[in-house]
Amino acid sequence: MSSSRIPGFYNTPLAQRPALAAAAAEQPPEQLAPWSSGGLNAEAADHMVENVIGLHSLPVGLGLNFIVNGREVLVPMVIEEPSVVAGASFMAKLARAGGGFFVTSSAPEMIGQMQVLEVDDVHSARLKILEQKSELLAEADGIDPLLKKLGGGSRDLEVRIIEESPIGPFIVVHLIYDVRDAMGANAVNTACERLAPKIAIISGGRVHLRILSNLADRRLVRARCVIPVAELAFDDFAGERVRDGIIEAWAFAACDSYRAATHNKGIMNGVDAVVIATGNDWRAIEAGAHAYAARSGRYTSLSTWKKDRDGNLTGTLEMPMAVGIVGGATRVHPAAQAAVKLMGVRTASELAEIIVSVGLAQNLAALRALATEGIQRGHMSLHARQVAIAAGASSDQIDKIAAQMVAEKTVRIDRAEEILKEQTEKRYFNYPSEG
Ligand code: MEV
Repeated sequence: MSSSRIPGFYNTPLAQRPALAAAAAEQPPEQLAPWSSGGLNAEAADHMVENVIGLHSLPVGLGLNFIVNGREVLVPMVIEEPSVVAGASFMAKLARAGGGFFVTSSAPEMIGQMQVLEVDDVHSARLKILEQKSELLAEADGIDPLLKKLGGGSRDLEVRIIEESPIGPFIVVHLIYDVRDAMGANAVNTACERLAPKIAIISGGRVHLRILSNLADRRLVRARCVIPVAELAFDDFAGERVRDGIIEAWAFAACDSYRAATHNKGIMNGVDAVVIATGNDWRAIEAGAHAYAARSGRYTSLSTWKKDRDGNLTGTLEMPMAVGIVGGATRVHPAAQAAVKLMGVRTASELAEIIVSVGLAQNLAALRALATEGIQRGHMSLHARQVAIAAGASSDQIDKIAAQMVAEKTVRIDRAEEILKEQTEKRYFNYPSEG
């Protein structure tokens, strides 16, 4: 791909944007075709879930300006909320001046849990299971020869004791499984179900639940960026003031769970949009993110924002990222396939690294707005357009009505309807022949 910077993209007519994006990505225009028809047909949908009665569409916007580990990348984002795509793109532009996003990821290791009940002595049983670790790992390794061939498979077995619970003490066995380019739920659940009878025999107990954990804290992605302080200046706001305001805003989230929930929601605005675009399980990502944010026992910010020695703003984001590029909806959904191709990712880790970069960019967009002019100004014009559409404005009326509501600082459906009525009446008087 040549560059993820496409000047004027926003103002380019919708019909011309796919070609522009394809050209920037150095891909044939057909590559983007699935998005022009909603991405999915009813027959395909009927094979995905039960009782299908139709399709439900969402917009896909293009996150621009991203450089992730030195690579230019155009990021498809599926989201219903205005400002998210624009915010992420703008912050990615600021981050470009500091080299973009620098991201590392751990091995794609997932955790499968087995709950072992009715054990006489949990401590002895724990050791007995650990004594058989090599055999158990070998058994789990043989379950999926293809995964093994690709370099995945079992990695470790941990045995935990839950001393106190409403049903008394019990054992939890964790199977650590490298799932390579899959999200991994199927592989891990299969492995746990296969190991369970052996674990029951070894422990003398009964294996109850056998299921993947969404707290994928062995599959972490860490992204960081540096924003040169000069890049942060705008209107009457000096760069230093914006930087310090962002750090103060982050400090609030770092210390207060009420704020941290909203702060992390802003991160997930970016994260989920790419997760959904690629057909991945965003509930799994949400669950993992929030559980990870509470890992110390107190729910806190997933990101950090600090000042470096040169006075620049530095941001970091570390979170679990269990996404795949093989299997599941990613394989069968044509738009998810197009998304993976457009980003040029070849491994699940590469995809995860882009997603976390977008989360960090999105967090910066929210904090910058909150720490300066407030969130509503940016939101307003896009929100006003949606309100105008909801009020029944036709495409040639939307911008006018939205602009008037923003100027009046009253973005409400009743006001949109009034303006619409006024305009229609005006039109009637101006051009009676049209009536
Ligand atoms: C809105 O979708 C997200 C924000 O509330 C995030 C934040 O407050 O940091 C703006």
